[in-house]
Amino acid sequence: MRVVVGLLLLLLGLCGSGAQGEAGGLGEVAEINQNTDPKHAAEESTEQTTKQTTSDVWTELRALRDMVVELNVHMELLQRENSDLQTRLSSSESRTDQLERENAEKPKVAFYTALTNAGHLGPYNTDITLKYSKVFTNIGNAYNPSTGFFTAPVKGVYYLQFTVFGFKAGYIAVHVYKNNQRIMYNVEKNNEDWVHQYFTNSLVLELTAGDEIHLVLPTSCSIYDNSNNYSTFSGSLLFTL
Ligand SMILES: *[C@@H]1O[C@H](CO)[C@@H](O)[C@H](O)[C@H]1NC(C)=O
Repeated sequence: MRVVVGLLLLLLGLCGSGAQGEAGGLGEVAEINQNTDPKHAAEESTEQTTKQTTSDVWTELRALRDMVVELNVHMELLQRENSDLQTRLSSSESRTDQLERENAEKPKVAFYTALTNAGHLGPYNTDITLKYSKVFTNIGNAYNPSTGFFTAPVKGVYYLQFTVFGFKAGYIAVHVYKNNQRIMYNVEKNNEDWVHQYFTNSLVLELTAGDEIHLVLPTSCSIYDNSNNYSTFSGSLLFTL
């Protein structure tokens, strides 16, 4: 860009001096034309040379003018491109700022818990809410160990997973509840005591802020956990909606 401007200034300078030369040249030609004495052959030859020179200068000037016009066009294009780039740069800068702000404000939700160190739970003659009391991860505090409820803090898509371990003869089961509604039932049967029985299941749920998820141990079923973290419940926010 600087080179182009420099070149342009140089050319404009040349044009200025060329124009002065042109005026002088024309004056000379007029003067010489008045002199029609055939005796002045040498002067005529000078006249020819002057005419030739004048026409060369004109040709040169026209070429220079064309170049200047061309450079002007080129410069205008460059200026337009430059202002386009400026516009695009500032719009992408503000987009970056916006994304950074959104990312900083994005809620972070993740929890991971295990049921108990107490061993067998159940069977009972009623459904009971499972309160996973060992809380290992609880980013965003959306899981409450005193109720066993996970509460979605924002509208979004959530991933939830649980593993149930049974160690007693009979049914090993877990219900999944969304608010007051059962949305999943899982069951296994152990034919004898002290047999390791596992199942894992997961859900991807679209929840609105305030929706609650909890797990229930159904009537007559049992579940087992100890310090080995056999029975776990975890979840995270995949993305907001
Ligand atoms: C149970 O999980 C906790 C947290 O991850 C860990 O500190 C502990 O060692 C685990 N227990 C066993 C037996 O792995």
